[in-house]
Amino acid sequence: MDKILIRGGAPLEGTIKISGAKNAALPLMAACLLSDKPLILKNIPDLSDITSMTELLTQLGVGITLERNTDQQIMSLDAQNISSTTAPYEVVRKMRASVLVLGPLVARVGEAHVSLPGGCTIGVRPIDLHLKGLEALGAVITLADGYVHASAPHGLTGASFSFPVVSVTGTENLLMAATLAQGQTRLINAAREPEIADLANCLNEMGAKISGIGTDTLIIEGVKSLRGTTHHVIPDRIEAGTFAMAAAMTGGKLRLIGAELGHIPTVASLLEQAGVSLEQTKDSLIVTAPLGRLQGVDAMTEPFPGFATDLQAQWMALMSLAEGASMITETIWENRFMHVPELCRMGANITVHGASALVRGMKTLKGAPVMATDLRASVSLILAGLVATGETSISRVYHLDRGYERIEEKLRACGADIERVR
Ligand code: UD1
Repeated sequence: MDKILIRGGAPLEGTIKISGAKNAALPLMAACLLSDKPLILKNIPDLSDITSMTELLTQLGVGITLERNTDQQIMSLDAQNISSTTAPYEVVRKMRASVLVLGPLVARVGEAHVSLPGGCTIGVRPIDLHLKGLEALGAVITLADGYVHASAPHGLTGASFSFPVVSVTGTENLLMAATLAQGQTRLINAAREPEIADLANCLNEMGAKISGIGTDTLIIEGVKSLRGTTHHVIPDRIEAGTFAMAAAMTGGKLRLIGAELGHIPTVASLLEQAGVSLEQTKDSLIVTAPLGRLQGVDAMTEPFPGFATDLQAQWMALMSLAEGASMITETIWENRFMHVPELCRMGANITVHGASALVRGMKTLKGAPVMATDLRASVSLILAGLVATGETSISRVYHLDRGYERIEEKLRACGADIERVR
């Protein structure tokens, strides 16, 4: 199994191009199911989650081609003939975002059978709100043999649905379903993540009638059919935030091409409080580490525009080196502190109290063999390894390949001593 070896200590200096956002690309790919005309997506990242979604859509009968040129991948998806409406356990188990085919399938062909995702390492991750929302739109939902069966043979009907808890993929599923429902749908307390706006903009380019984009109330006037379009996937704000923290921790300076401050408003403000300088230019974000030590700053994860939970593990690695203590509170996922024991193996001083972790900053971290437990936890160990004295070896790095495109290459080009061994 692959491992990543890092010899820490080098400040990161240089330029990194931020890839297309995984969490925007996945729902955009699922959106192809809403139309019998081709959807072309530019700036698709080269990640294993994208491969999983490609496999799933292919099983449903979607014709997919991927063109790679020097600086991006362009995917063409043609869902003219949907031959299956089942998302099997083998795929959903690997990638929970597979549930995103549920709304589009019911809306376009009147039925869908999607395996229940089951538990996962960072929390229970239920999909009850996806199902309640579809029921509100008139779908009949039954659960049998570990599968959700959704049916709406005469189509969906617009309705008002209020999310009791903000859900990103829940909002995306209902947004897609509502585009083809009869009449008006109002999604209240909808997620406001930039990936939702990207999806809504693409759906509008396909002929949907969505307003309220970027707010917590999305209003969708259903249409009879959607057409094809060509859409450019937004840059990955989680990758951008991760590299911003890498620059800050290593005492370096990085230019992140494509990164947008507006996509990470709270993280940006906390980084500035910690002493990091951030400068937005026309096409890049320039991140400069403080001259002295980083300062401890408290953070609490929240739905957008709050602090993204997908940057919590990386922030913890950063705070492990800050001057003073900081409290990190996780409000989205109940089991998202699995990186703590691994960071502690590297000399971090972290104590977990329920949903909060108290991080007492240390002057240095020390290289150690550590194990990745999930996607964002793995990258927090990379960040720690980049500053630790000596060598860090990270095992189970397949988690990393789900969400970070060519990360060793990108970091190595900026001076990191990092390699993948097979
Ligand atoms: C998405 C992201 C993931 C990120 C998360 C939170 C994708 C593909 N994944 O995941 O990287 O960590 O948002 O920003 O975009 N909940 C329910 N019932 C539901 C759905 C969710 O109770 O039906 C709860 C969850 O348990 C969790 C919270 O709502 O506590 C947020 O979950 P949600 O926003 O749905 O996460 P995902 O969309 O799965």
